[in-house]
Amino acid sequence: MRKPMIAGNWKMNKTRDEAINFTLGVANGLPLNVECVVCAPFIILRDLVKRAPKNLKIGAQNMDYHESGAFTGEISPIMLQDTGVEYVIIGHSERRSYYNETDESVNLKVKKALEFNLKPIVCVGEVLEERESGKTEEVLAKQVRLGFEGVKLDEPANLVVAYEPVWAIGTGKNATSQTAQDACKFIRGELAKIFGQSKADEIRILYGGSVKPENIKEYMANEDVDGALVGGASLKVDSFLALCNYKN
Ligand code: 13P
Repeated sequence: MRKPMIAGNWKMNKTRDEAINFTLGVANGLPLNVECVVCAPFIILRDLVKRAPKNLKIGAQNMDYHESGAFTGEISPIMLQDTGVEYVIIGHSERRSYYNETDESVNLKVKKALEFNLKPIVCVGEVLEERESGKTEEVLAKQVRLGFEGVKLDEPANLVVAYEPVWAIGTGKNATSQTAQDACKFIRGELAKIFGQSKADEIRILYGGSVKPENIKEYMANEDVDGALVGGASLKVDSFLALCNYKN
């Protein structure tokens, strides 16, 4: 009942021309039974929304939680809504570590995104030291509890959570399939405490961290892993198509 999702996070990559070429490259190869998304830099979102094939959804990688005002360099939910994007990544570990994002700012952003009909892809995940000291569940529970505190969720299918262990991002050291399943299952249990079991059962939970065409199938075979949030391997047409077509 949860539609699988493959979401590319392009991070700070691609010019407008490169992005447009990507949409042309994937146009005829995307499956209908998997939700395919790319989350791109702000400046090319409008072009992507205009040119993306019907079954390629577009998302942003961040947003401010204020609606407008004196916040130099920031992008508001109103502006994102105006571009026509459907998704927005919130609380990526790179934003948390390089730009001081906290569970509290994640919470404000999630609320604002939903208010403006943007579907949040909320990232959680532990750093290596936390995993090695046995604190993974404690960290995930806190990120989920604070991140979703007071969030009103009418449409659980509009919320996506991404489990991205920080030690697996861009390192080639992907989590094992079992590790991803255990964490995603744990996160679903925490979501159930906040939203109730039936809503938690509708929320999609993605795994992210060194996902490639060679390992996507193992992750997708798990009960609680509903998709992947992919960095490096989402940048090339061929590998993005291979990821989205993991069923074939
Ligand atoms: P990689 O797939 O490059 O490890 O990046 C994962 C990620 O951060 C997706 O948001």
